[in-house]
Amino acid sequence: MKIFLIFYLFLISGPVDCAEVTGYTGGRVFINCRYDHKRYMDHTKYFSKKSRGKCTDKILSKTQNTSDHESRIFFVDETQPGLFSVLIKNVSLQDGGTYRCGVEDAAAKPTDVTLQVKEDPCCGKTLTQEAHPGDTVTFTCEYPQESKYLSKYVYKATDHSYSVVIHVLGLSTQKGRFSLFDHPEENLFNVSISDVTEEDGGVYLCGLQGQKPGDLNPYYSLFNEI
Ligand SMILES: *[C@@H]1O[C@H](CO)[C@@H](O)[C@H](O)[C@H]1NC(C)=O
Ligand SMILES: *[C@@H]1O[C@H](CO)[C@@H](O)[C@H](O)[C@H]1NC(C)=O
Ligand SMILES: *[C@@H]1O[C@H](CO)[C@@H](O)[C@H](O)[C@H]1NC(C)=O
Repeated sequence: MKIFLIFYLFLISGPVDCAEVTGYTGGRVFINCRYDHKRYMDHTKYFSKKSRGKCTDKILSKTQNTSDHESRIFFVDETQPGLFSVLIKNVSLQDGGTYRCGVEDAAAKPTDVTLQVKEDPCCGKTLTQEAHPGDTVTFTCEYPQESKYLSKYVYKATDHSYSVVIHVLGLSTQKGRFSLFDHPEENLFNVSISDVTEEDGGVYLCGLQGQKPGDLNPYYSLFNEI
């Protein structure tokens, strides 16, 4: 009887990929959705919140004004073939819930993403750091205790893109003039930029890469802004 019932439900809802994502209030989160690149490269992609089984607040990749980074939720250019990202800025507790993303095609398999939003004193901060050309500048990123063993990321945000400046899984790394030292015993990492130039000015975002066991796609949770 039980087997019959499960089969029946499966037929109604169709197979769906699932993912779990953690965001922090005041921070940002990048949610990645995978699709069949060969078949659906040129199709419209969507992202919507599910409430009581229905999809609401649908946003579409093709109708969205991509130069409009003022909006709090927006599509980010395909980061790899077969993957598109949606960025939610200034995450709040009300953003918690289940989202569905995928391709506008009845045959395409959607992904349900559960966003869990946490409040943590580490996160949602905006700090300012001043430096002069030629200096070495260091800033500190506090992170949530539960992300001690996850990869740490630093992004630089410009008007139209987010690029990874440095990342590490482990205690320290160096990339050109950038270095990152993790201090897991204090739940923080320090980032240094040596021989600073004017072009280094801008907005940096500290974050982590998370991936719940069994999930296909990693997500990126950015918690502080420098
Ligand atoms: C897109 O946004 C830009 C800047 O906000 C605006 O100038 C432009 O008219 C918008 N385009 C559409 C199609 O809405
Ligand atoms: C972030 O969202 C909160 C409400 O959740 C709001 O009070 C605050 O002004 C927002 N901050 C920015 C920078 O938009
Ligand atoms: C770097 O991290 C340590 C924590 O071990 C902290 O005491 C220090 O103030 C941070 N900043 C710099 C500039 O080293």
